[in-house]
Amino acid sequence: MDLQHRHFDALIIGAGGAGLNAALRLASADYRVAVVSKVFPTRSHTVAAQGGVNAALANVLPDNWHWHMFDTVKGSDYLGDQDAIETMCREAIPTVYELEHAGVPFSRLENGKIYQRAFGGMSQNFGGEQAARTCAAADRTGHAILHTLYQQNIRARTHFFDEVFAVDLLRDEDGVALGALVLDIATGEPLVIEAKTTLIATGGYGQVFRTCTNAFINTGDGMAMALRAGLPLQDMEFYQFHPTGVAGKGMLITEGARGEGGYLINATGERFMERYAPKALDLASRDVVARAIVTEIRAGRGCGPQRDHVLLKLDHLGADVVHQRLPGIVDICRVFQGIDPAEKPIPVFPTAHYAMGGIPTDRAARVVAPARHGPEEYVPGLYAAGECACVSVHGANRLGGNSLLDILVFGRAAGQDIERYLSENPNHRPLTANHLEPALARLARWERQGDGEPVHVVKADLRKLMEDHCGVFRDHDTMTQGIEKLRALRARVESARLQDHSRTFNTARIEALELDNLVDVGMATLATALAREESRGAHSRVDFPERDDVHWMKHSLFWREGDRVEAKPVRTKPLTVDSFPPKARVY
Ligand code: FUM
Repeated sequence: MDLQHRHFDALIIGAGGAGLNAALRLASADYRVAVVSKVFPTRSHTVAAQGGVNAALANVLPDNWHWHMFDTVKGSDYLGDQDAIETMCREAIPTVYELEHAGVPFSRLENGKIYQRAFGGMSQNFGGEQAARTCAAADRTGHAILHTLYQQNIRARTHFFDEVFAVDLLRDEDGVALGALVLDIATGEPLVIEAKTTLIATGGYGQVFRTCTNAFINTGDGMAMALRAGLPLQDMEFYQFHPTGVAGKGMLITEGARGEGGYLINATGERFMERYAPKALDLASRDVVARAIVTEIRAGRGCGPQRDHVLLKLDHLGADVVHQRLPGIVDICRVFQGIDPAEKPIPVFPTAHYAMGGIPTDRAARVVAPARHGPEEYVPGLYAAGECACVSVHGANRLGGNSLLDILVFGRAAGQDIERYLSENPNHRPLTANHLEPALARLARWERQGDGEPVHVVKADLRKLMEDHCGVFRDHDTMTQGIEKLRALRARVESARLQDHSRTFNTARIEALELDNLVDVGMATLATALAREESRGAHSRVDFPERDDVHWMKHSLFWREGDRVEAKPVRTKPLTVDSFPPKARVY
């Protein structure tokens, strides 16, 4: 096959906030940058981030980055790497000002400063008030950020490959990143993008669960590419369920709604978070609130005819606050529930939202290959940032508002380190047919003709399986059954077939390639969740209800080959601070 080749200094796979912030830095420094995105860039999932981005600007109440760091370490249930958390919280402040100067239209306080609201898991200050650290553009903060970064990239002449799907990474015999094989969705033609450096910034994989906040595009593509390249994924058992998804449908109702003063009630009208988190109440961290909701429903105190949800009350806030601060939530409630949340409470239930785990990286976003023995090594020229990476700043549970921050800080860090790498490695390395072969074989597999199960049927079963066997509460038997079912499902993927082999805009082919990815990240999640015999952060084991710092203060690693799981001591990476030793986590 005659393949077209293009050459760049940096290939960035994914056009969300992490990818675009890295690209902006590199393109502004005159490097040749390719951004490959399977959707038009401003449709990347960053656009859906609602509530805001954390930074201790202290515009509303006293605050500083040390408190932000403490809250993040505590929120992570002490599994987050404190050196990385320190970097993120320190960098938050200049990062938000940089965005402001780039043109992000933040909401404003009366005095003209950036508007900040309270979010979950933030400390209470000495006056007993919850910190207000989340910088917001109404409830469309991700939208504001993504559009600004895209426009700045256009100005900086970043080269965009829109609606182009990344099939697989290319690496040479020494493991050096060479770029990727990609597929133009419009024409069905493969293309080789050769690059001196590659950044994976493909976001999360919420689509592995049936009910989720995630866009259809969030299928774990970058994580699965890393697995196929023989690299491990870290801490995949820690998957966050956002407490307030639209009941039965999953769309996000921002934590900002509770930050503005909303609260949850059960069928008796009780503000039940008073029993679960007497100080922080509805603004306890997400894992705590999600478990409380599920516990209330299991105890028969759910609302509605099926008693299968609780209610989020905003109607006491007044129409002005609700409509001005939460216009997107008003839209969602009108469209999907036929209610105005300024008048009626919103039926909510936890929904799959965010992966704390991902491709292991350091603070410069370099992909780390954890060695079995001896020091860790970097994968030359390969970077990862954002939700697909695990640096790890979120540990076992992420705080709301730290996701936008993570993508911005570590996206920029990736751009900075890529500049350094390019100055030391100015030449392209040779790419041979051998390097391309596995990626081409992956494409060819879906050209097999004949009868076979349709992809969408297998995918629907996968998503149901993950919801049933790896949800908010977990136990050994349920997960063991889940793994058996997933192995059987993997065999079904092998025999699945495309019904339509046409080239032009064949989205069925893309969905098939995505299914491969979802199965791999699903297995990584279930296998590591079964291995971790404790409860920590978002990973809640009914059969091991306590956190176990003696045996489990460590990251897990999952390799695709043999579905292998290993657990490594938490401090495999050098820590610059060891500020906050583990304590009981109460809110
Ligand atoms: O609730 C929210 O607005 C979500 C924010 C986040 O996940 O950081």
